[in-house]
Amino acid sequence: MGKAIIPRVNTASDVKALRGDYSRAAADFSVEQDWDAHSAEEHALFRRLFERQSKLVPHYACPEWIEAIAGLDAGREIPRFDALSRRLRRATGWEIVAVPGLIPDEPFFTHLANRRFPVTVWLRKPEEFDYIVEPDVFHDFFGHVPLLFDRVYADHLYEYGKGGLKAMRLDAVKMLARLYWYTIEFGLMRTPEGVRAYGAGLLSSGGELAYCVESPEPQRLEFDLERVLRTEYRIDRYQTTYFVIESFEHLMRETAPDFTPIYARLRALPALAP
Ligand code: PHE
Ligand code: CO
Repeated sequence: MGKAIIPRVNTASDVKALRGDYSRAAADFSVEQDWDAHSAEEHALFRRLFERQSKLVPHYACPEWIEAIAGLDAGREIPRFDALSRRLRRATGWEIVAVPGLIPDEPFFTHLANRRFPVTVWLRKPEEFDYIVEPDVFHDFFGHVPLLFDRVYADHLYEYGKGGLKAMRLDAVKMLARLYWYTIEFGLMRTPEGVRAYGAGLLSSGGELAYCVESPEPQRLEFDLERVLRTEYRIDRYQTTYFVIESFEHLMRETAPDFTPIYARLRALPALAP
């Protein structure tokens, strides 16, 4: 039933509560992947996760994700980040940077603003097959990496990273983080085949991927920037509200305006319940 839940890490000291080994991380929180350290059992667990999720995605994932994963020839084992980076650089100029887990806002936004996507190095334990509290390599790879091959999505995420550094200066990260949550993590897209998922938290979830598309329970609202920036989110359950974009071009357009006056205006308004 579970899904990856993504708490925010605000400061370097917050990472102490997290599961990864931050002791060898560089100042930008990057680490070596040490692919050879993964056991055969871990590769097999990754393969099982990949296979379960691969049965769902043809029905529930957006076409851009489906097209990208097909070109990746992935799933047999935990991917090697250096090989992924080589392909990504050619496609959209992005690369993967290995990290111990969640990282604070400033290094996170800085990586994105330099077209580097942080991917967690560790894999969940077998008993966490269905539910994991922090994002692991399966969530980060399966959910996020394929869409970095889409030119428009890739450009949007780069703009988001720059927007994050700006939001830090404006003390508006809390609002901007809601945009990430309701798009990059839990976003839906309208397609000719119906509503499909492009959010990584959905794509990597064994339960919520079908739920977000098929369940009559949640609200599926048209994407509305100001409403998203005001809407709080729950990290410990399936979402009660999803926001639906028309396309990545649509998302790019809607987020292109200068957020400075928007933050100033919304700051005076109450937040909205999830
Ligand atoms: N347009 C936003 C700003 O001015 C930056 C941004 C772009 C944020 C894309 C999110 C996504 O702050
Ligand atoms: Co994620």
